Amino acid sequence: MRASEKLELLEKLVSIPVYRVVGYTSGWLVYSSTRGGVESLWAVNPETGEEKLVAQGPVHGYAKPRHPSTIIVYLRDVARGRELHKVFAVDLHGGEERVFADAPPMRVFGLAYDGVRLAFSGATMKGMGLYLARKDGGYEELMKLETMLFPTDVSEKYVVGSGMMRKDPRSMEIFVYDLDSNMVETYTPREGSVNKAPRLFGSKILFESDYEGSSKLYVYDLEEENLEAPSMKGSDYREYSPTEHVDYGWTIDGRIWAIGIREGRSKAFIDGYAVPSPEGFVGSMDVSPRGEAYYSFSRLTEPPKIYAARDGEARILVDNKLPEEISGRIGEARHIWYRSSDGLRIPGFIVESRGAPKPGPTIIYVHGGPWGAVTDSWSILIAGLVISGYHIVAPNFRGSTGYGEKFRLMDIGDPGGGDLEDVIAARNLAVKEGLASKTIIMGYSYGGYMTYLALGRKPEAWDAGVAGAGIVDWEEMYGLSDAIFRKFIEVLFDGYNPDLLRDRSPVKYVDNVKAPLCIIHPQNDTRTPLKPVLKYVSRLLEQGKTFEVHVLPDAGHRIATMSDVVRILFPAVLFLDKYVGGED
Ligand code: 4NP
Repeated sequence: MRASEKLELLEKLVSIPVYRVVGYTSGWLVYSSTRGGVESLWAVNPETGEEKLVAQGPVHGYAKPRHPSTIIVYLRDVARGRELHKVFAVDLHGGEERVFADAPPMRVFGLAYDGVRLAFSGATMKGMGLYLARKDGGYEELMKLETMLFPTDVSEKYVVGSGMMRKDPRSMEIFVYDLDSNMVETYTPREGSVNKAPRLFGSKILFESDYEGSSKLYVYDLEEENLEAPSMKGSDYREYSPTEHVDYGWTIDGRIWAIGIREGRSKAFIDGYAVPSPEGFVGSMDVSPRGEAYYSFSRLTEPPKIYAARDGEARILVDNKLPEEISGRIGEARHIWYRSSDGLRIPGFIVESRGAPKPGPTIIYVHGGPWGAVTDSWSILIAGLVISGYHIVAPNFRGSTGYGEKFRLMDIGDPGGGDLEDVIAARNLAVKEGLASKTIIMGYSYGGYMTYLALGRKPEAWDAGVAGAGIVDWEEMYGLSDAIFRKFIEVLFDGYNPDLLRDRSPVKYVDNVKAPLCIIHPQNDTRTPLKPVLKYVSRLLEQGKTFEVHVLPDAGHRIATMSDVVRILFPAVLFLDKYVGGED
């Protein structure tokens, strides 16, 4: 296939919208869509199918709406990708968008709205705070934050959320800010356990905790100080026995809905009864007061659709189809388990390309986070590589989410250690199984970090590498980071440890790099800044390595437009076609 045809295929791919359910309110289901090339907020009337644009993107995050309020709250980046946000609101029924909280631009990393007030946390270069805003545009700082803390719900009486209240990177506690007394309390069912994302119903919170071993849902009454297992009528949820939860909440009459995850796939439940969905990934959901469930659903091989389900029946509310020239190039996707060098069982996914021979060129695709995962859900980057003629092996290395807290916490104090071994083992598996003729490592963000590190520490393992928005120097990056990302690095490295930061930095191993390297980096990235990467590039140049560098102008870490997706994928594919010959 010629390069121009590949570009055409990629442009077709990014024109397929990505949908997510935002929430139900007042007769409308609000959802996000990349229709038109940027993520915008839309609403659909589930009765009539009527659709309307709520907020033209780029939108950089949003709060779940609260029935029956018609005010939709969301973030915009006001700094060309630097992730400095302002909070905006618009009425679902129309009218001008306005600033909801007139705070100085900051990186907002937690957002909860109850129809009247908004709790949010934000970071600047100097510090972090927890804030409360009301409809009139005013806002107040509730407290300064010394630790990572994410508000997840708010009411007249409380702001609740989870955070590292004990400053132990391996535990998370629930915080409860009392709006009457302005006192904050910490709650944990057991010291050292991981407790996440409380949702309020009156004086009760629903949250996920691993205090008894595996991650389960619990209900705690803040007034009665009573902890219990949630009551659910149906037995489907228990039988499914999720490893973790994608999301959960209360219905208006106090029943519990939840999306459970198992081995990279997920399923929705209301009051313990399964919500009908195909086998794949339910990514987001909400439930109307009448008990209708709305959820987004996708697979690695199928773009997102929005379904409505009630009384055991599901129907498609917002449809999505792959054109034949794209679907015909995507092969089978399957979940795998394999052994790492130390014997640990590592999960992951394989997606085969119908545009590549077998064995053929294979990309070991390393996800970001590192607290994230590749699931059986639509990923434009993976789909773009597959249709361009590359098989994908996506390891969910130690530290990935969705396989229990024990597994997630294994990378703390050891980034670029055990997880790198897991990535190398995935590469060896791809060769041994007869999938890979050539092996490529590629990833974005933490995945870009692993790409640089793997090329420097295991140079013999790779035929090429593509590093997107990667990390090359943890120490220098720490100095350039804002308050939340300094904290993030301290958590990941189990404290500020300069020796470990240096040892795990790819810049230390740059002279060992053998394989051709393609570097793609957003100019205005404030999470993984460009500056250290330019130094790394100088070193590659001095050493006469084979490399290319693409700086994405006016772009930030978060890939905000579909044209930026093409500006990442197309250079990567051209580079790979040249060096590992993904031609068919
Ligand atoms: P991500 O980017 O993979 O997109 O989450 C990262 C940004 C910063 C850090 C790690 C990953 N950090 O450790 O600071």
